[in-house]
Amino acid sequence: MTATRIDGKAHAARLRARIAEQVAELKQAHDLVPGLAVVLVGEDPASQVYVASKGKQTVEAGMKSFEHRLPADATQAELLALIGRLNADAEVHGILVQLPLPGHINESEVINAIAVKKDVDGFTVANSGRLATGQRAMVPCTPLGCLMLLRDQMGDLSGKEAVVIGRSNIVGKPMASLLLGDNATVTVAHSRTKDLPEVVRRADIVVAAVGRPEMVKGDWLKPGAVVIDVGINRTEAGLVGDVDYASAVEIAAAVTPVPGGVGPMTIACLLANTLTACCRAND
Ligand code: GUN
Repeated sequence: MTATRIDGKAHAARLRARIAEQVAELKQAHDLVPGLAVVLVGEDPASQVYVASKGKQTVEAGMKSFEHRLPADATQAELLALIGRLNADAEVHGILVQLPLPGHINESEVINAIAVKKDVDGFTVANSGRLATGQRAMVPCTPLGCLMLLRDQMGDLSGKEAVVIGRSNIVGKPMASLLLGDNATVTVAHSRTKDLPEVVRRADIVVAAVGRPEMVKGDWLKPGAVVIDVGINRTEAGLVGDVDYASAVEIAAAVTPVPGGVGPMTIACLLANTLTACCRAND
């Protein structure tokens, strides 16, 4: 039997509609409008597309969008000064610095200058630590979107065997923390893992976030597994994920497509985090 195609695009649209309703209520009840500031340094074409899309969806949800574009040769001090102003701006509840930053910028210093409450990407050391220790945190958008899709597909994740492929700070590690928080048994696999297919074969849940086109094959999977593909790889054949979709759907119970799976969830979760940051601003 062919697997269910997990429709992230439809799920994200429903999430955005719920957020827009809550934004309207917040405005009516408290005259409060969530605001998201996005900082883009330089002219990276992919980043420009992401930033434009974030701005459009922020406005569509009824929130304020503040876009700050700095030239590629902007200095560390200029960027830190801008973040200082955004931290102090009461109209700004969420701050996102689009990555990657130009090579001369100290990325870690810039990210960690963002006020913890406004860190809607969840990339500061403070928020990473809070998530890892089970405290209330801003959760990185991509793993949060993956968790929502998994809960929607499987219900309770308690006791499920989960394998996360990839150990990045942005996806792999927070994904593992989130799955642990939902009581899954979690393995984090990476480039040095021995016999990756054998590790993946144990998993009820596979989250692939390695950035290698179509690496995970259908015959690696346990029959009935749920597969979340975080990969976005541009190849000559077009956009493909980290999972070989055609063979995976023959074995799995459900698989996210690329595009139309995890991708749309990421921006919807950014809006959700901005709304959360606005609601918690005076905590
Ligand atoms: N660049 C690519 N994805 C992301 C993301 O989720 N957040 C930020 N800040 N930059 C990115």
